Amino acid sequence: MNATPAPASTSSVPLPVPSLPGLPLVGVLPELQRDPLGVMERATLSAGPMVRLPLPLGVQAFLLSDPGLVEHVLVTNSRNYVKQTRGYEMLRKVLGNGLVTSEGDFWKRQRRIAQPAFHRERLFAFGETMTKAASEMVDGWTPGQPFDVADAFMRVTLRLVGETLLSSDVTSASSEVGQAITVALEHLIHRTVHPFSFPEWVPTPANLAFKKALEQLDDVVLGMIASRRAGQGPRNDLLAMLMEARDPETGEGMSDAQLRDEVMTIFLAGHETTANALAWTVVLLGRSPAVEKRLVQELDEVLGGRPPAMSDVPKLPYTAMVLKESMRLYPPVWTLARRVVETEVVDGLVFPKDAIIFMCPYALHRHPKYWTDPEAFDPERWAPDAPPPTKGAYLPFSMGQRKCIGDTFAMVEAQLVLATLMQRVHLSLVPGQAFQTEPLITLRPKGGVTVVASKR
Ligand code: HEM
Repeated sequence: MNATPAPASTSSVPLPVPSLPGLPLVGVLPELQRDPLGVMERATLSAGPMVRLPLPLGVQAFLLSDPGLVEHVLVTNSRNYVKQTRGYEMLRKVLGNGLVTSEGDFWKRQRRIAQPAFHRERLFAFGETMTKAASEMVDGWTPGQPFDVADAFMRVTLRLVGETLLSSDVTSASSEVGQAITVALEHLIHRTVHPFSFPEWVPTPANLAFKKALEQLDDVVLGMIASRRAGQGPRNDLLAMLMEARDPETGEGMSDAQLRDEVMTIFLAGHETTANALAWTVVLLGRSPAVEKRLVQELDEVLGGRPPAMSDVPKLPYTAMVLKESMRLYPPVWTLARRVVETEVVDGLVFPKDAIIFMCPYALHRHPKYWTDPEAFDPERWAPDAPPPTKGAYLPFSMGQRKCIGDTFAMVEAQLVLATLMQRVHLSLVPGQAFQTEPLITLRPKGGVTVVASKR
């Protein structure tokens, strides 16, 4: 990529950027409200590496469909692209100033403190907990009785992030927490794409429900911190690391408010994403008996009926291939956005100061220029001898310094949960479900995934 600071400083004429057609005044906003994935996909596939999305209120927005430009924004010159967007502003209402939403030196320091909790050696200790939680989940399923496996995955991943990183048992609160999270996320996404909604302080039913959901989540998270302050709990988990960290200049530890933001972030970012990845995997496997057969064959050969352990993870390459391919078709984080700090020209294209730059993993992952037969569920794309994807065209965990801190944790967890359940049961999709995508903050299967389990 060839980047220069500002268009005025270059003699070359900037390249024209096409615009998606939109309505006068409101642009594509009504369509974005109705079908955000459709708009993003259409914009990604329309001509050119960068497309303008016409929006109201003078917002300048562009969508990138060129992996090289995506890499430029997220990696090469990421300093010029910050998270000061409407979506993150909304997310801050729940996550405060935690790892996902903070920026600059403050973010760097917090990330440095949290990073060791995600080191490979530490994750090793979590294997047994992960397999045990997955086994207990399967124990709870009655053969022949339909149930929502997406909901089961939300519970098990919430339990796991609580037990492993925060050493807290949230199983009893999991329904309440799950419900509160859904209310909060639906509210946030609604407000993000409806700029003309009532302000937060107006006691509308939606605003009141959001406030209540936030209070419920706060109760759980602040409860965890309070019991830790009271001296309960281990000394070596992520929460302990956060609590023991001291500011190098002042020597002060994190306030309860900051701890709340970090814990809430891990809590939310750490379960909803993995749960959705697993739910979509069940949908895809349910429709692809040949892939399921191959997966079960690998599990039988490697495990021979015993529960998987962490040391089995590298021996289950096909299980990993299935998950990677599932996250290609249904990336849990389906869109990313940044605001341009200073105008710059990249490969002749102007990125104007304050413009919002969207990147859509969902659309990039299905772009025919970078994937053969993009709509097909084909784990073989990820075979060790297959060519790697174009850099910037596959980014379920994003890339660059703001890449997911929990990527390895998530992969290992998803592999162990999937292996544990697929080795024991076959899940058939109850007919008549459309499995529409529901792009909240993460990409959920709308209405869940109703399945019937039968013993293998
Ligand atoms: C399949 C599962 C997961 C997916 C697809 C995923 C995806 C992502 C993506 C795309 C980002 C970048 C978001 C942005 O630019 O705003 C991100 C950031 C993050 N994720 Fe994940 N994630 C997953 C699992 C997890 C888990 C298990 C944890 C923690 C236990 C976690 C914690 C975080 C945190 C803290 C950040 C912010 C990192 C930073 O900016 O320093 N994620 N994740």
